[in-house]
Amino acid sequence: MKAIVWTKYGSPDVLQFQEVAKPVPQDNEVLIKIKATTVTAGDCEMRRLQLPLMLSFPMRLYAGLLKPKRIPILGQEFAGKVEAVGKQVTAYKIGDQLFGTTGFGFGAYAEYICLVAKPSPMQGILAVKPTNLSYEEAAAVPTAGLEALHFLRKANLQPDQKVLIIGAGGSIGTFAVQLARHLGAEVTGVDSTEKLDMLRAIGANHVIDYTKEEYTNSGAAYDLIIDVVGGRRVARRLKLLQQDGYYFLAYAGLSHLLLGWWISLTSSKKLKIESSSQKKADLIFLKELIEAGALKPVIDRCYPLEQTAEAHRFAETGQKKGNIAITVAPLLTA
Ligand SMILES: NC(=O)c1ccc[n+]([C@@H]2O[C@H](COP(=O)([O-])OP(=O)(O)OC[C@H]3O[C@@H](n4cnc5c(N)ncnc54)[C@H](OP(=O)(O)O)[C@@H]3O)[C@@H](O)[C@H]2O)c1
Repeated sequence: MKAIVWTKYGSPDVLQFQEVAKPVPQDNEVLIKIKATTVTAGDCEMRRLQLPLMLSFPMRLYAGLLKPKRIPILGQEFAGKVEAVGKQVTAYKIGDQLFGTTGFGFGAYAEYICLVAKPSPMQGILAVKPTNLSYEEAAAVPTAGLEALHFLRKANLQPDQKVLIIGAGGSIGTFAVQLARHLGAEVTGVDSTEKLDMLRAIGANHVIDYTKEEYTNSGAAYDLIIDVVGGRRVARRLKLLQQDGYYFLAYAGLSHLLLGWWISLTSSKKLKIESSSQKKADLIFLKELIEAGALKPVIDRCYPLEQTAEAHRFAETGQKKGNIAITVAPLLTA
């Protein structure tokens, strides 16, 4: 089968379109013909292994000290069709259309993948794909959708509460905007100029252009802040959080851990660094919202599998609105 092999840590050039062995399912696995996958900011960070220090060292130990040996193929989420099932599999049958995450083995940048039909948390999640989405749209849901849902649930968001989403125009942000609006919150999205119309279109009540406005001095007070950007300005942005409010960081370093500790000692604000534990029930919850018309993934561009390196280059420009999808099957089977 064709796959994008992750040959080294580094620039998008390390992603090479190659022929590799087609996997064969074990008794407890399904063989999925992948129709679409995605390129996320997280995939680019993994490819470069440019992660916060507290993550990059354990990740390098796990994936391979000098090159990524244990994870030969990147791609953390997918949508596709079951092509074969192992003897013990009763949950799915040939032809079922599924979507999900691949767990710590990654491997979605490929024509086929074998996944355990009833995976443990480290092995990803599988669920039946929403009926009203294309494969490309469905592939973009699991990782960012679950992350956004996790933050909103942890904060126990209530109708009419005020939410600020920093980096609202990207993968997590576009799900967070729609989910927070669905829960009845008043949503302000912060991102760069070109993304603001899209943010209004998906329901943001207010938008802020961070390239033109120093909003941290606005005096506004939010019940929940979801910050997917992080960096040095977190302490300044915390001024915008109400006492007892939650501030979630999707990308954090050691300094943020220390800041969170300090904030917990000196105020009732809560600075949280966590990620979704990826539960099947939550993915099904998102699927049901999608099928009810309350949530729709934003897709900026689709690339064919062989241009995955190009898709990584585009993801790193910071220009993408929502998500980038990779179309796997049609080009290769046409
Ligand atoms: N996607 C996931 O499922 C997931 C899960 C766990 C953790 N994470 C981590 O969370 C982080 C964000 O992920 P993502 O996939 O949502 O990234 P993304 O799609 O790249 O979105 C980030 C957004 O932030 C905007 N931005 C950059 N600087 C900003 C600033 N100073 N103020 C406001 N907005 C700014 C970017 O737009 P401009 O560049 O145009 O400004 C972009 O629209 C990544 O580090 C990732 O590793 C992601």
